[in-house]
Amino acid sequence: MERAAELTDPVDRFEQARAAVYQNIFTRRDVRSQFLPDQVSDVVLSRVLMAAHHAPSVGFMQPWNFLVIRSKAVRQRVHAAFLLARAEEATKFDNEKEEQYRRLKLEGILEAPINICVTCDHGRAGPAVLGRTHNPATDIYSTVCAVQNLWLAARAEGLGVGWVSIFRTAALQNILGIPTNISPIAYLCVGYVSHFLDKPELELAGWRSRTPLEKLVFFDQWGQDHCEWSDGVVQRIRHIQERERQGAIAE
Ligand SMILES: Cc1cc2nc3c(=O)[nH]c(=O)nc-3n(C[C@H](O)[C@H](O)[C@H](O)COP(=O)(O)O)c2cc1C
Repeated sequence: MERAAELTDPVDRFEQARAAVYQNIFTRRDVRSQFLPDQVSDVVLSRVLMAAHHAPSVGFMQPWNFLVIRSKAVRQRVHAAFLLARAEEATKFDNEKEEQYRRLKLEGILEAPINICVTCDHGRAGPAVLGRTHNPATDIYSTVCAVQNLWLAARAEGLGVGWVSIFRTAALQNILGIPTNISPIAYLCVGYVSHFLDKPELELAGWRSRTPLEKLVFFDQWGQDHCEWSDGVVQRIRHIQERERQGAIAE
């Protein structure tokens, strides 16, 4: 019997809230352009940080720290580091794409009232960590899980989050006083927003669009896009995507 069928408590099955969970996932956005200056209360900020702290982590390592930044002076220094890195990255694209890149808004460091740098301490749980022996990067994966928890909790609070990765790591460490053995994983701009866009801002700007999910799902073997039991899944995926195209929130 499937585990889901064993759960009789409607709370365990998220019976009332399931739609809200999906709505949260599908309406989360990376926000750069819609930040409002409204302050985020300590109560809301604490809830969002607590959600991040409840992320899964390899060997329960909890390798994260959350460096919360409100200081305008600090944010200005971070913004300057972003501008330098952005100028470097722009040259990686050819002609038209470079021009398009330069027009994109890629951060809200100064507009968002709060910035949060989420870091990973690779030595948090000593030299041997359960589950990390063969995959040292799992501490970073764990930290990214915390980021996603934070992002979704923020969305539930009506807060936008924008991830800025366009920095030289050393520059960020220097500005924020982060020791060299601690990795900054995510620099997040957080604040209330005027609205959440329906689609990723990069998609609306014509940079890239969402890949159809059925092109990304394989069955039993790498590269195998169908097998004797796959038709139902593929059809259902296409159905959800079609409804999404028509404006429905996928469910
Ligand atoms: C690891 C990571 C780094 C990112 N870095 C940036 C960034 O530097 N600037 C930016 O504008 N968006 C950044 N993003 C946001 C993506 O552009 C965004 O998630 C994607 O376009 C899909 O949009 P959505 O998050 O609104 O669905 C980053 C996202 C991730 C996961």
